[in-house]
Amino acid sequence: MDRLIDFMNHPYFITSMSRDPDEVSAGLDPKYPLTLFLALGIWLVYDRYQKAHNSPLPFEVTPPAAADPGWESLPIADASIESHLTNPDIMPPVALPGRRYITSFDPATGLHLQTVLADDEELIETKIRQAAHAQRYWKTTNFTQRRRVMRSLLKWLVDNQELCARVACRDTGKTLIDAALGEILTTCSKLEWLINRGEGALQPEKRGSNLMMFYKKSEVHYEPLGVVAGIVSWNYPLHNAWSPIIASIFAGNGVILKCSENVVWSTSWFVEAIQECLRVCGHDPELVQLVCCYPEQANALIQSPTIKHITFIGSDTVGRKVAMAATKHLTPVTLELGGKDPAIVLPKADIKKCAPLLLRGVYQNMGQNCIGIERILVHASLYDDLFDYFEDKVTKMRVGSVLARSPEGYISTVDGGAMINPDRFRGLEKVIFDAEEAGAQIVGGAKQYNHVYLENGYYFAPTVVGNVDPEMEIAKQEVFAPIALLIPYDKIEDAVRIANSTKYGLGASVWGPDRDLCMKVAKNLECGMVSINDFGVFYINQDLPFGGAKGSGYGRFGGPEGLRSLTNPKAVIRDRFWISTSIPKVLDYPVRSLHNSWEFSANLVHFLYGFGWRSRFAGLYNVIKLANK
Ligand SMILES: *[C@@H]1O[C@H](CO)[C@@H](O)[C@H](O)[C@H]1NC(C)=O
Ligand SMILES: *[C@@H]1O[C@H](CO)[C@@H](O)[C@H](O)[C@H]1NC(C)=O
Repeated sequence: MDRLIDFMNHPYFITSMSRDPDEVSAGLDPKYPLTLFLALGIWLVYDRYQKAHNSPLPFEVTPPAAADPGWESLPIADASIESHLTNPDIMPPVALPGRRYITSFDPATGLHLQTVLADDEELIETKIRQAAHAQRYWKTTNFTQRRRVMRSLLKWLVDNQELCARVACRDTGKTLIDAALGEILTTCSKLEWLINRGEGALQPEKRGSNLMMFYKKSEVHYEPLGVVAGIVSWNYPLHNAWSPIIASIFAGNGVILKCSENVVWSTSWFVEAIQECLRVCGHDPELVQLVCCYPEQANALIQSPTIKHITFIGSDTVGRKVAMAATKHLTPVTLELGGKDPAIVLPKADIKKCAPLLLRGVYQNMGQNCIGIERILVHASLYDDLFDYFEDKVTKMRVGSVLARSPEGYISTVDGGAMINPDRFRGLEKVIFDAEEAGAQIVGGAKQYNHVYLENGYYFAPTVVGNVDPEMEIAKQEVFAPIALLIPYDKIEDAVRIANSTKYGLGASVWGPDRDLCMKVAKNLECGMVSINDFGVFYINQDLPFGGAKGSGYGRFGGPEGLRSLTNPKAVIRDRFWISTSIPKVLDYPVRSLHNSWEFSANLVHFLYGFGWRSRFAGLYNVIKLANK
């Protein structure tokens, strides 16, 4: 109670609640706590009402057997070669002539997960039609109903987080911690944001007016677009699928998700969960559709006249193709492409404190992270300390599978998982080798890693490349791999110049004890997002927009900007009072006098925008005089 009284004697409280400060300081008037309790009571009733109408509904999705630790199946040496399709044991139950197959496998073990028919153009068109049909009803739902879907998803995700993490691990070979940070936390944060702030971001918004339009009320209404599409990469199969889906449906749209061929198995299950949730909440699950196809068929989606917006997450090569194909029906595109994110370690930075975060920023998800730290620009005075730290940690890193048993029958603890496939291994080995030739300092495997018992897994040894020169190829291209680059610099201006020197501009981080200096450096970076003394947290606060500058793409997802980009911001202007616009006689068709009509409009401009009250007054006088001429 003492605290409460203290609070009530606070100057703000006194000025806002009482006319006479002496009255309060003299003794506590019983009407103040009473008001407080009354407010508390109203809030409690409101909260109960909200909860009763908005409690999460439980739903279940059958857990896939392959998500179990130690699960076994046929190993496939190289699933990208279609020769395994001659094995009748792994073929899908229905085979159709002329259709291609997509095979899913666990890249950490090489175990076969499933082989399915890839969608052809006709099936893609059918799915778009079904989503469009469901959206006709869905767009009429209110935010209470949409929030209930989000709450149900959030509860299910929290209750099933381990299962979801294991499904993601099985399909991509990542570790449970990579999944916890990049899939679960991020998705919960997005759901929470939609629940708490989504409606606010989509509320009709009042806009200002001006002298000419003083009698009008102006608003922006954020209306659903119809059916939108998300074309997403494989690195976070849960988050990359759910994030565009939940934002799209919250804004009142239907959505088609096209996932990468690499993660069809897990994405199908994650999308099934959303469909099941919609069904349990009383809505049509066809609102959300998953398309699994090869790039050759993707134009059936990108160039469909029904698709009103495309969110693309992936490489810049494919992003450009999508953006070009989308011009057929002028479909707007949000492009989230690659990055070469710099971490700038300023002089006097506390290496002990920032090094563990930098390490996670580089090796999270084995570097297969669009906002992963791709370059560490470290002041020359701190270079040795940081390099030693990385050397010590990286040489001790263990890679493997969090779901496979060793020959002795146990699952070992690992720091890093597998890579999605071996396609880029030779290229990575070459850029590291070239850097070494040019004088870089290499620690760690620097090449494909052959696991002792997971011989069919695709692993790349965690590597540190020190003394990197910004002109080296490795410092320019996005490596998307477990490779830390340490670039020493002398002057802060040099660090900013190097940071800005790649074609990308996605995220960045600045590290140092002087907050003003950090802010100054952050201001000079050409990129979409910066975190200071932290890694990637601009994505954990989902109230912020996510996206890049330069070659990292355009448009934003996340935050009000992202949610609104999935809507048609319709400008609506209407009368505020009893006055409405009428055409003065002098301008009415047929115009009777060229001179008078011109003088009238010229004087109107003087009245509205003229400088000085004389000019304005003369303008008004003439407007009145000429109006009926
Ligand atoms: C939202 O819609 C549901 C179902 O039509 C209705 O029961 C509920 O009262 C509506 N809520 C609000 C806040 O309009
Ligand atoms: C980024 O650095 C480059 C090179 O130093 C410079 O030309 C550019 O102006 C910088 N960008 C900003 C926003 O200051």
